[in-house]
Amino acid sequence: MIALVGDAGIAYDDVGSGLPVVFVHAFPLNRTMWEPQVGALVAECRCIPIDMRGLGDSAAAPPYSMDRYADDVVGVLDVLQIERAVVCGLSMGGYVAFALWRRHRDRVRAFILADTRIGADTIDNVERRRELIEMAESQGSTAVANAQIAGLMGKTSRARRPDIYDAVHRMIAQAPTDGIVGALEAMIDRPDSTETCATIDVPTLVVVGDEDVITPPKEARRTCDAIGAGARLEVLTQAGHLSSMERPAAFNTVVSEFLASLLYN
Ligand code: MLT
Repeated sequence: MIALVGDAGIAYDDVGSGLPVVFVHAFPLNRTMWEPQVGALVAECRCIPIDMRGLGDSAAAPPYSMDRYADDVVGVLDVLQIERAVVCGLSMGGYVAFALWRRHRDRVRAFILADTRIGADTIDNVERRRELIEMAESQGSTAVANAQIAGLMGKTSRARRPDIYDAVHRMIAQAPTDGIVGALEAMIDRPDSTETCATIDVPTLVVVGDEDVITPPKEARRTCDAIGAGARLEVLTQAGHLSSMERPAAFNTVVSEFLASLLYN
């Protein structure tokens, strides 16, 4: 489905009923990365995976920023007449979650923050992103897929799950160049979210793969520490940066337990 949010058509799915859970994807993937979650969790909640503008089936509409992505999520909630939702974001999806908290915290029932980080980009990160922008513009999305794919998956999945490797590679190779460049610029510009996290007072589940080399477990611990008592950490073994795709059953179990716990707080 497409929600018209300001000037842009934002693509989303809306399946299941009950507690609404919005899923925000990683860079530079799209909402189909959440299929293993939607397929399993649809029996217990209302699943709403959303494509960030410029990626998946959402329209390319610059300029791009985390704030704009967050406003798009709220635009979809408005169209669906949902007052508050659980927000599940992985990596860049987590950066969007922090922007949502800064701008629209009354719309957040709880957070699931997977394989993400609270810090802003270092100078080295910015440099790497600028090189990726140059690569996307001069060589296209397939070159970006070739450059990114190895770091996204854990060593166990790289060895044993060629199916996930192919699916992720395809998703990136099919991503529009404008959306890739826009997301990279949005990530470069995002602020440090440490102070934002200190104000989060909704239940928060932090998930990380123990083989995540992009946002390793120490980053997840930092996120938990910054949020404080309301945050709980789950480390999934034999999972890399895309923990929800690499260990879907384990990921779904911790999410499902967390969603059930929301009935009591
Ligand atoms: C992601 O998976 O969304 C990216 O690795 C995030 C980033 O590059 O900071």
